[in-house]
Order: sequence, then structure tokens, then C-alpha cells
Amino acid sequence: MIHPIVKYGNPVLETKAQTVTGFSAPELHTLVEEMFQSMYAAKGVGLAAPQIGVSKRITVIDTSNGQNPEEKIVLINPEIIKREGTQTGEEGCLSLPGFREQVTRAKRATVRAQNLKGEVFEMTGEDLLARAFQHETDHLNGILYISHVSVLKRDLIKRKIKKLIKAGEWG
Ligand code: NI
Repeated sequence: MIHPIVKYGNPVLETKAQTVTGFSAPELHTLVEEMFQSMYAAKGVGLAAPQIGVSKRITVIDTSNGQNPEEKIVLINPEIIKREGTQTGEEGCLSLPGFREQVTRAKRATVRAQNLKGEVFEMTGEDLLARAFQHETDHLNGILYISHVSVLKRDLIKRKIKKLIKAGEWG
């Protein structure tokens, strides 16, 4: 099932998501599969569960856009345990369609997470993958990428979104 993507303005996006327990539940596998489907349908490279309205600490990432099954990553209860260097580049979010901004992130990031079996693993990513780790982990803490841009730019984006909401063209 493909879920609609929750847009900026919905409080679930700015709420700290809940830790996942109960790894044997089939619902968890279904949820992760539906997250991948929803992400591919929206043409994203990462999706966090709150973006489909589920306030749980789960994110899926595929920087190959569905081209390489080996690049499908599921992070459950992730935390960034190491950051190195910096990179500045354009970043967007499925919950803020139509906007992209320059965001500075760590160039290399190591994440510690659980897989679908509940096993703890660590993974280091660079460049786009490192950016995805940081962006998606932020989502689970209720933080959107616009928190990492200047107040001026953030206010401009918020004003534009208010206009879109008024015009019935948002959410
Ligand atoms: Ni996002």
C-alpha cells in the first residue's frame, strides 16, 4: 500500500518518534515494505515513518532510487554515533515539496541502528548516504532540514507555504 506523504505543518513531523520494540510483529515488516513503496512512488531517496503519519523510529533509504536492491537500507531506532568533515549541498524533503536549500552536513556519518530482526549494526556512509543518515535521523527527532538553514530562508519558506495553504495547494 502506498501512503500519502505528510506535509510540513502536520505536528507528527515535529514530534519525537517512539522507539520500536516487538521485532517479531509481522506489522513491522509490512510497515517497512509500505515505506519503501511510498518512498519510490514519491521518488525520494529516504523516508521516515512520521512522513506517512507513523510516529515510530524507522527510516528507509535507497540512494539508487530503486535501481539496486542491495542499496535498500532499513534503520530502526537509529542514532548517529560519529560525524566527520563537512559537505554543503542542495537538500530537499518529500514533506516540503518544491523547496530545496543548501544545507551543511557531516561528510561522513556512522549510524548505529537495528535491522528488522532487532539486531544492532553500524554503518558508515559518505556524501549522499551520509546526508540521508543525518536527514532521516533528524526526522525521527522531529527536526526538519529547514532547521539547518538561516532564519531568513526558513521564514521565507514558511511564508510561501502559508500562501500555498491559503490557496488550497498544500497538504
Ligand atoms: Ni525529509
